[in-house]
Amino acid sequence: MELWTEGEAAMLCSLFFISFISTATSFEMKTIYCTISDSCDCDFNPNIQGLEWDLYKNVYGQHLAQEIVSESVASFLKKTNPDRPLVLSFHGASGTGKSMVSTMLGRHLYGTAMGSPYIHQFVPTLHFPLADRVKRYRSDLKRWVQGNLTACARSIFIFDEMEKMPTGLIDVLEPFLGPSHVVFQTNYRKAIYIFISTAGQEVINKVALENIRAGQDREEIQLKELEEPILDDVYKNQNSGFYHSRIILEKRITHVVPFLPLRQRHVERCAQREMCQRGECQRKDVAKAVGGVVTYTPQDGQHFSSTGCKLVPAKVNLFL
Ligand SMILES: Nc1ncnc2c1ncn2[C@@H]1O[C@H](COP(=O)(O)OP(=O)(O)OP(=O)(O)O)[C@@H](O)[C@H]1O
Ligand SMILES: [Mg+2]
Repeated sequence: MELWTEGEAAMLCSLFFISFISTATSFEMKTIYCTISDSCDCDFNPNIQGLEWDLYKNVYGQHLAQEIVSESVASFLKKTNPDRPLVLSFHGASGTGKSMVSTMLGRHLYGTAMGSPYIHQFVPTLHFPLADRVKRYRSDLKRWVQGNLTACARSIFIFDEMEKMPTGLIDVLEPFLGPSHVVFQTNYRKAIYIFISTAGQEVINKVALENIRAGQDREEIQLKELEEPILDDVYKNQNSGFYHSRIILEKRITHVVPFLPLRQRHVERCAQREMCQRGECQRKDVAKAVGGVVTYTPQDGQHFSSTGCKLVPAKVNLFL
């Protein structure tokens, strides 16, 4: 004997479904929403063209960073359901544009530089100053990242000055960077992580020097000649934040982004821009003079600015 007619069974099914939905807690609903939506409650507002334009127009002498950052961010954001987060690791000497590019990313993905509550910047000397507190910092960092991912799947985490990060700390994030972690209430795979470090600069500068000595164009330097040596270098370097790190072993970095050492012509462009910002665009003599007073390395050849463009505003002041 049949207990329910077909019609009654269908109605019971719908009633059960409706009651299931209505009793689902809000976080369950949010989980579903966050998994399928791009924004997950946060004001994520990417402007990829704006980012590309800014990178090509305002970042000098960094063809690799321009290409890798714009292509990787554009292709990552095209995926509605990425299989893992985007993890970029910026390397290069001081004053070459690493922090500048990370700020640009924030500006073009959230419409505000670092002001968005979904862009999180960590500076080791400020947030993790004591090397003997790594255990505590690890649990704080994990909880913090988890909480922020729950608030916004499209969170951006920027770890500046990785070379000052206590050894072993960053590894607590290794599962968050892979494909098969679970973070309650959110799709953690939509996040972007940026590591910034001067570690690896010797490798980059060496390749840049060889390029000059071989009489080649700067733009001929390719990522493939730098990627592995940089990863190898930071893995072996006790002052890189990635010393013996599982993040390197498990290949959690999506792209290494090398920043090349800047030459005199790049310093002059930085100085020229500084002059324009001060309303003195016509003072090309000052831009030229600034290029002449910055110190260059190596001793033999004087090819690269030892401070990149970092001291340009201070040097401009000398001539005004
Ligand atoms: N490649 C570049 N093109 C244009 N401007 C640059 C470039 N590199 C640096 N600058 C200028 O110099 C300033 C300092 O650069 P930035 O803070 O990005 O250096 P950094 O690579 O993060 O150095 P550090 O390792 O010392 O933190 C920038 O705000 C920008 O004005
Ligand atoms: Mg910096």
